Amino acid sequence: MAQQHDREHDRDPRGSREYRGTQGEPTAGRSVASPVAPASGRVATEVAIAGRVGGIPANPFAVSDVRVRKAQAAGADVIDLSKGNPDGEPPEFMLDAAVTAVRDRANFRYPAFAGKPAFLQAAARWYARQYGVALEPASELLAVAGAGVGISEVIEALIDPGDLVVMIDPYYPQYRGSTAVAQGRIHLVEAQPELGFLPDLQAVPERVWDEAKLLILNYPNNPTGAAATPELFAMAVRLAKAHHFTVMHDFAYAGIGFDAHPPISLLQTPGALDVGVELCSLSKMYMVAGWRAGFVACRPELMAAVRVVHEQTSLLVTSVVQDAGAAGLNSDQASVRALAERYAGRYETLRDGLSRAGLELVPSHGGLFGWLRVPDGWSDQDFALWLLAHPHVAAIPGSDFGPAGASYVRLSLLVPESVLHRAAERIARARGDAW
Ligand SMILES: Cc1ncc(COP(=O)(O)O)c(C=O)c1O
Repeated sequence: MAQQHDREHDRDPRGSREYRGTQGEPTAGRSVASPVAPASGRVATEVAIAGRVGGIPANPFAVSDVRVRKAQAAGADVIDLSKGNPDGEPPEFMLDAAVTAVRDRANFRYPAFAGKPAFLQAAARWYARQYGVALEPASELLAVAGAGVGISEVIEALIDPGDLVVMIDPYYPQYRGSTAVAQGRIHLVEAQPELGFLPDLQAVPERVWDEAKLLILNYPNNPTGAAATPELFAMAVRLAKAHHFTVMHDFAYAGIGFDAHPPISLLQTPGALDVGVELCSLSKMYMVAGWRAGFVACRPELMAAVRVVHEQTSLLVTSVVQDAGAAGLNSDQASVRALAERYAGRYETLRDGLSRAGLELVPSHGGLFGWLRVPDGWSDQDFALWLLAHPHVAAIPGSDFGPAGASYVRLSLLVPESVLHRAAERIARARGDAW
């Protein structure tokens, strides 16, 4: 039987099950940074920093970058499996569309706030073709400069200071960061290894759902590789309707599935559009993470609020990128299927290599990562440090994705199979009697 698994994050001295920001302390009020040493000719002055800044956690990927660079500076030949940066290139027809778009005079002007009609229509057609979901381009879709931008816009549109956001542990770190910026509280629901790293939403106390303003889901999951089931989405929609909260599904890895059935959209669930919002990204489907493009899909009433935030705070998606993105969305998605197959092959190479080193990669249904159980007796942080110091393989400690990750590290699949093979061999060789 599934045990009670919703849990607090950082321990709050007042015994609350939720926390704000990084320290488990309210972030309201003003803090003052230390006086800066005066540069010549300048007067040193105190900087009055907004209280919310103290509640925003450090970005774990930036922290990891520093460690990797230090190891490289010390002469280590590091195999960097810490990052989620696509290593390939977009299909040729998208590059051609971008080149044509660069010369299009219409693209010299500012883009429309909501996105180019042709891009939004392409997104609507993609939803209809891939998922059987009908969306009205002008009122139910919004172009954003990546799913990450959409995530923060939706959170800012929905969350007031003190509002409760429920997220699944482990989680993509931006959910925590954006909630901290909005000064919301977080309630974590643990993904259950015995349920294929899905949460048991039914086991969460009613009072949590009563208080919740937003539930965040992400499948295929970063970091675990879990895949959503229709039942999970149906349960989330049922709870959202009963308790009046919104379900945000981060679908950044749409199309990147390893199973016979492709990953499903939240919006395929009957009634999901009444309570749901989905974030899609071009970054991973078409290997254009540097172009910055994605889209938000939800009903017009919620979209109106998201657009208020979007129109005041966001950089719009470059018109050239929207034209090339439309070419990708309008295509038959063969390039995305080929990409998913490539990642599945890499996952198997890494899994088999690590098993020869006595290590167990969690079964994955898609996405860009392997979720590796650390050997008994090790912490995730110590194991990540050991991997960098001995076989010189960079990984992200699992607890950077939440406390449920404390027995895992995350390894990226975004290097060729030969490099993954070499990484696993190095680990096997360096192992000695370490476990
Ligand atoms: C789960 C997840 N969501 C969102 C994003 C952000 O994607 P984008 O590049 O579209 O902003 C990422 C990027 O790695 C991700 O892994």
